[in-house]
Amino acid sequence: MSRALSTAAADAAGGVGASGAAGAADAPLVFITGASSGIGQALAAGYARAGWRLALVARRAAETSAWAEAQGLQGGRCAVYAADVAQVDSIVAAARCCLAQQGLPDVVIANAGISVGIDSAERADLEVLRDTFATNNLGMAATFHPFIEAMRARRAGTLVGIASVAAIRGLPGHGAYCASKAAVVAYCESLRGELRASGVAVVTLLPGYVATPLTARNPYPMPFLLTPEQFAARAINAIGARRSYAVIPWPMAIAARLLRLLPNALFDRIFAGRPRKPRRRR
Ligand SMILES: NC(=O)c1ccc[n+]([C@@H]2O[C@H](COP(=O)([O-])OP(=O)(O)OC[C@H]3O[C@@H](n4cnc5c(N)ncnc54)[C@H](OP(=O)(O)O)[C@@H]3O)[C@@H](O)[C@H]2O)c1
Repeated sequence: MSRALSTAAADAAGGVGASGAAGAADAPLVFITGASSGIGQALAAGYARAGWRLALVARRAAETSAWAEAQGLQGGRCAVYAADVAQVDSIVAAARCCLAQQGLPDVVIANAGISVGIDSAERADLEVLRDTFATNNLGMAATFHPFIEAMRARRAGTLVGIASVAAIRGLPGHGAYCASKAAVVAYCESLRGELRASGVAVVTLLPGYVATPLTARNPYPMPFLLTPEQFAARAINAIGARRSYAVIPWPMAIAARLLRLLPNALFDRIFAGRPRKPRRRR
């Protein structure tokens, strides 16, 4: 554990500039995207406390490295990879760098995501839709992809998709995000079936509201709001139990079920006038 924290920078073209990051091979390894903020950072802290080695991915690698150093995660316990999950070559290069330097992760968490309101009548918001699907959906598949064959061969491993309760129903003004998260749920379910016999688990987590920069500007009430640390503790338990699907916190699961049962006419009436997720600032 004497080696310094290292940063591997995977650029959008797939090039990797890395410094030696391989750590002690005895502790389990978790690969987390979106580790520079919010839920991803809290997951990283939770796994670090449990003694795991960390492979952390974000575009803001310098900030993530500084955070890891402040946590005392030096000495080969943690490597930080700069990558953009919306660029397939970038995240695949980061994953390959992790495989080469740290080995095959026990758990891969595709957590990086964006959430921006849209108005489909606005041309500019089609770009928001494109960015949302590229990050939340393509980015998730590209995060899992480099690890699947090796996990199959080892007959072990857990792939975790971070969805949202926003997957349950389409909220006015939030079509890009709700559609992307509904797609996450369906995608992870497909993958779970594909990998069922291989010993590789797929865990789909649906957070309710968590107090992070992503929700900081929400102009509506956020029932059952959790801190990132509260969410991470429950998520780590669900991942450890290899739960196929979990809404966190559980009261939100009940609310989500009830919402799903609401007839469309009633759902539309209740949500039509609700304040909307802010659109991208110009
Ligand atoms: N907060 C909630 O209430 C809530 C509820 C349901 C679901 N979720 C989901 O939980 C996940 C984490 O959200 P959060 O609340 O923690 O948000 P956050 O604090 O805004 O963090 C988002 C993370 O995603 C990373 N990211 C965004 N775009 C990226 C890209 N193209 N490439 C690489 N990394 C990227 C960001 O890192 P860089 O900017 O450094 O790249 C950041 O670390 C998301 O998937 C979100 O949809 C959150």
